[in-house]
Amino acid sequence: MSKFKDLYNADITRYRGKPEAYIRIFHFLYRKAAVASFIPMRLLYKALFRIWANRRGLELTANQQIGGGIYIGHAYNITINSKAKIGRNCNIHKGIVIGQVNRGSRKGCPTIGDRVWIGINSAIVGNVTIGDDVMIAPNSFVNVDIPSHSVVFGNPCVIKHRDWATEGYVNNIVE
Ligand SMILES: CC(C)(COP(=O)(O)OP(=O)(O)OC[C@H]1O[C@@H](n2cnc3c(N)ncnc32)[C@H](O)[C@@H]1OP(=O)(O)O)[C@@H](O)C(=O)NCCC(=O)NCCS
Repeated sequence: MSKFKDLYNADITRYRGKPEAYIRIFHFLYRKAAVASFIPMRLLYKALFRIWANRRGLELTANQQIGGGIYIGHAYNITINSKAKIGRNCNIHKGIVIGQVNRGSRKGCPTIGDRVWIGINSAIVGNVTIGDDVMIAPNSFVNVDIPSHSVVFGNPCVIKHRDWATEGYVNNIVE
């Protein structure tokens, strides 16, 4: 299968394979803009993606490093720094920020693992590493490393170990 099909199918599967049209358009343009090999078409996809994203306040670049199987719950007002990295089968929601810290020991952008669920209005900032299978509750502020298999709440964030932390929340995944 082509890289585009791998990524697009992994994304669409997350919505039980039946997302609404606007979500299909998002994933189609987002993945095409990142991997289309014919440069003029890639530029066209990027331009269309930018128009689509601007209408919903989505600040993310088409060549963002986001693994297959990204799920967007309520696609409004999302900011992801272009240097952030996000693994496979993650869930993001409206109002989240994945951003840069500009000075000090955490200067830089987050690296986020696989099967990470990021709740509404949460912020993850700085050169921090979020492990795999991490559940970040709505309205959390995360500027520290989070080990795999954790549930995270609040500001300053409380971290609780939990096996299968994202069970019931990160569903319909292609491994
Ligand atoms: C974060 C969330 C996943 C926790 O779910 P859960 O793990 O099933 O919750 P539990 O009640 O079993 O709590 C797990 C642990 O965290 C603790 N905890 C729960 N809420 C907490 C809070 N606000 N602050 C600190 N600790 C908290 C519990 O006391 C428990 O601790 P323990 O294991 O030591 O007993 C859930 O509360 C949540 O917010 N889900 C998302 C809902 C949502 O945003 N829906 C809209 C989607 S668009």
